[in-house]
Amino acid sequence: MQVTFRIQKYNPETDTTPYYKEFVVDGVDETWRVLDVLEKIKGSMDGTLTYRRSCAHGVCGSDGMRINGRNRLACSILLKDLNYRNVVTLEPLPSMPVIKDLVVDLSDFYKKYELVKPYLITKTNPPEAERLQSNEDAEKLFESAKCILCACCSTSCPSLWTNENYLGPAALLKAYRFTFDTRDEAPEERLDIVDTQDGIWRCHTIFNCIEACPKEINITWHISQLKKALVNREI
Ligand code: SF4
Ligand code: SF4
Ligand code: FES
Repeated sequence: MQVTFRIQKYNPETDTTPYYKEFVVDGVDETWRVLDVLEKIKGSMDGTLTYRRSCAHGVCGSDGMRINGRNRLACSILLKDLNYRNVVTLEPLPSMPVIKDLVVDLSDFYKKYELVKPYLITKTNPPEAERLQSNEDAEKLFESAKCILCACCSTSCPSLWTNENYLGPAALLKAYRFTFDTRDEAPEERLDIVDTQDGIWRCHTIFNCIEACPKEINITWHISQLKKALVNREI
């Protein structure tokens, strides 16, 4: 089977603007993933083609890109799940500076992630063994803990496109993950961080983030729990 990939290319050292290059790839099957086709193009048609990938199994979060207009992981999308008989278009994640071809600069994404203190904060002396948590309390964190930091959600968020200072859904989801962890001893500190104009109140519940998340996390629900906690704190 033959498939045509139209890929946005850009090398800041030689190009003034991004452009699209078409690759007609033979010998593929509809069960191939987008990443498999990319590997074939890079291996036999254009060695300069640049993209990130590591695990190739939906775990590391490194190959987020725009595939036919939607943010997705290249390693998790099969050709048969796309309209592959027409041209398949690949572009870098939107609203981030492009380093080369499909690779974007995620420094801002990680800066916001770090801002919400994505780790357990403890102030009391450690117990002799581990800090315990009930199964019931752990279950409240399972969905948020599935996040692989692929940035598909934050780069699809209209609130972030129009305000680059907004923390964005991935950072807020991480804030939920630790604020509602019963072993954490600084939930108020984290709530203060998200309780700003560029924090949680910038989320206008547009749901683009949920559409984009490859782990099917209901990000907006988690953000709403943080909002509820802040409202209850005021009362
Ligand atoms: S629900 Fe909130 S975080 Fe998600 S895309 Fe919409 S504004 Fe952004
Ligand atoms: S919440 Fe989903 S889309 Fe956002 S960074 Fe995590 S895994 Fe990716
Ligand atoms: S390569 Fe790791 S998630 Fe796709």
